[in-house]
Amino acid sequence: MTNFDKRSCYREVAAEIAAVLEGETNLVARLATVSNLLHHAFDHYFWTGFYIVDPEKPHELVIGPYQGTLGCLRIPYDRGVCGACAVQRETIIVDDVHEFPGHIACDNRSESEIVVPVFDRSGRLFAVFDVDSDRKAQFDADDREGLEAILKASFSA
Ligand code: SME
Repeated sequence: MTNFDKRSCYREVAAEIAAVLEGETNLVARLATVSNLLHHAFDHYFWTGFYIVDPEKPHELVIGPYQGTLGCLRIPYDRGVCGACAVQRETIIVDDVHEFPGHIACDNRSESEIVVPVFDRSGRLFAVFDVDSDRKAQFDADDREGLEAILKASFSA
């Protein structure tokens, strides 16, 4: 897929997500729909889903709606790319997960990864969105921009 095609695909899936979510206020339904539609829109997505900030355990993420093979159930903030994203509150792109200190291999076929923070309407971090690929260096600025826009429109607006 060229970068031009990738940008077009993000625009198309953003419109589809907005249309399907129109009027739906249930958070689980919204999270499940976003992970499903994104996962099936791109060939380079191998695992796609949310880790939610656990309200009962400060500094710990718990698995949310996802697509793909079995995900780890919990990730403390001091572990993995997801934990680092929750602490930094900024998108992290990892070209080679084996080079990332503390990376958590839920499935050892994962080779590269992007994790995007997800904020609610009041600006509070309530989840991170994690996409893994089974090929190295699959995520770039177009994925970051596409995902940040979709997550903002779906959960922060
Ligand atoms: N690789 C992630 C863990 C989650 S999964 O791969 C589904 C991380 O290092 O945070």
